[in-house]
Amino acid sequence: MRTGVWLVGARGSVAVTSVIGALALRAGLADPTGCVTELPELRNPGIPGLGDLTFGGHDISSTPLGKQADTLAAAGVVPAWLVRALHDDLAAVERELRPVPEAGDQAETAELIGADLAGFRSRHDLDRVVVINVSTTEPAPGPHPAHADLEALEAELPRSRSLLPASALSAYAAFNAGCPYVDFTPSTGARLPALDQLARRRGLPYGGHDGKTGETLVKSVLAPMFALRNLRVRTWSGINLLGGGDGANLAEPAPNAAKTASKQRVLAETLGYTPQGTTRIDYLEDIGDFKTAWDLVTFEGFLGVPMRMEFTWHGCDSALAAPLVLDLARLTAAAHRAGRSGPLTELAFFFKDPLGPGPHALAEQWRVLRDFVAGLDTRDVL
Ligand SMILES: NC(=O)c1ccc[n+]([C@@H]2O[C@H](COP(=O)([O-])OP(=O)(O)OC[C@H]3O[C@@H](n4cnc5c(N)ncnc54)[C@H](O)[C@@H]3O)[C@@H](O)[C@H]2O)c1
Repeated sequence: MRTGVWLVGARGSVAVTSVIGALALRAGLADPTGCVTELPELRNPGIPGLGDLTFGGHDISSTPLGKQADTLAAAGVVPAWLVRALHDDLAAVERELRPVPEAGDQAETAELIGADLAGFRSRHDLDRVVVINVSTTEPAPGPHPAHADLEALEAELPRSRSLLPASALSAYAAFNAGCPYVDFTPSTGARLPALDQLARRRGLPYGGHDGKTGETLVKSVLAPMFALRNLRVRTWSGINLLGGGDGANLAEPAPNAAKTASKQRVLAETLGYTPQGTTRIDYLEDIGDFKTAWDLVTFEGFLGVPMRMEFTWHGCDSALAAPLVLDLARLTAAAHRAGRSGPLTELAFFFKDPLGPGPHALAEQWRVLRDFVAGLDTRDVL
């Protein structure tokens, strides 16, 4: 099953680490550590192999892929010898990267995005192309009545240059080009009723939102523990320090608000109440892609005894995110192949702010994911 992966934000840290990882796995130069779809419980012949993935993408930056790979190697995110060994493969991916099209109105821009997707699909004779948003986090857009209805949206787009934020415009263009869509960021993406209508009408699945790779991943394991032991969490506060492009962008108040809202949701959902406390994200240029999160939890036990726990997480953000991007590309392609359309709520395991009502506890999300993979139709590939 030849599967294209079109990365929106293709020159960013997460995208480039994903591409290097897939190329390294295909060449037998790395182990699939961190790739959930390589676990025996998730084996299914309907899931495309890592070697079946072909990469392309859009970015507003023109920094060459090779230069980005060298920067990631210098920062210790990927091994430098691997970047040298993959030089020719990276050059081939570079040829499939395009600037983000810009036309006079958003209907025309969407058509140009769709043309890039169609060209990629036909050049490589791909069975399908999954579009994955790994671009810079956007501020939440203001409400607009056309967001709620596909006909209204389509009437308005030819008259507008800013009706949809970039992530939603790329989802709109992807659906019109017959491509499933995944949002790895907290941005709007496909999360508008009009875009849900379009995905269903076209028989396309979509997934999101915001990859769960660090502090929130730990929260989604620890919060259910407090709930199951009937311990009352009184406060839960965290501070996240990160550098890199994502960190610099999250220093801005509007994207910072979108991200912190996405990170706190897991507590209310798993505990059934909202403990006091906040999640903060601060930018520290010097630590680059290596994130530190400190969390302090105070809780109450039997007879009201106050207790506390603290944890520190030191993670390499892109190395945690990249294998999940590959997992999501493979699982979304398999879901599309199996005839699924609309929101893929079963992929909640991967996200901080998943589509659908839950569950939010990691162990339950894992069971849902395992059942979803086991149930994917594989008749014509067996
Ligand atoms: N690393 C993680 O663990 C993790 C976890 C969850 C979510 N995310 C999200 O993934 C995204 C990427 O993170 P990163 O560390 O790679 O950031 P990054 O800054 O390194 O890369 C973002 C890329 O997007 C490009 N871009 C910006 N606007 C664009 C647009 N309109 N269209 C196309 N490209 C555009 C930028 O030029 C840049 O190359 C962020 O939104 C981040 O919040 C990352």
